[in-house]
Amino acid sequence: MDALTRRGFLCGSAAIAALSITPAVAATGVKTLANGKTEIDLKANSALNTVGGVVELDLKKYGKIAVVRTSKSSTGFSVFKLACPHAGVIVKQDGSGGWVCKPPGHGSEFALNGALKVGPASSALKPIKFTVKSQSLIIS
Ligand code: FES
Repeated sequence: MDALTRRGFLCGSAAIAALSITPAVAATGVKTLANGKTEIDLKANSALNTVGGVVELDLKKYGKIAVVRTSKSSTGFSVFKLACPHAGVIVKQDGSGGWVCKPPGHGSEFALNGALKVGPASSALKPIKFTVKSQSLIIS
């Protein structure tokens, strides 16, 4: 089990740049655990079997979030909020390997793993802590 670290989040940026683009799909196999955490069944989300795959979901605690497969490692994922850190507009995939904050947002661009590429936002899409078990990803 690995928690997402800032270093891991940033180091994934370079690897993500070369990925093929896979449009995000809605997550399935999602359940709320007794401790309030959210479990995503990885077997039920085949998009996450491929590096560059993305699923999106909406959680009460965070709003819209994305889970991105960032490497073939069993813990190779990024999880982050889709609300732009500039003014909160929900970013969309841009078709070229990242996310863009379209109007009414102000054009910030982010790598597929959420790292900041172009402002006016001054930080990455907000990472969310998670752990990976054998067949599930647990969002804190
Ligand atoms: S809200 Fe995203 S760039 Fe302003």
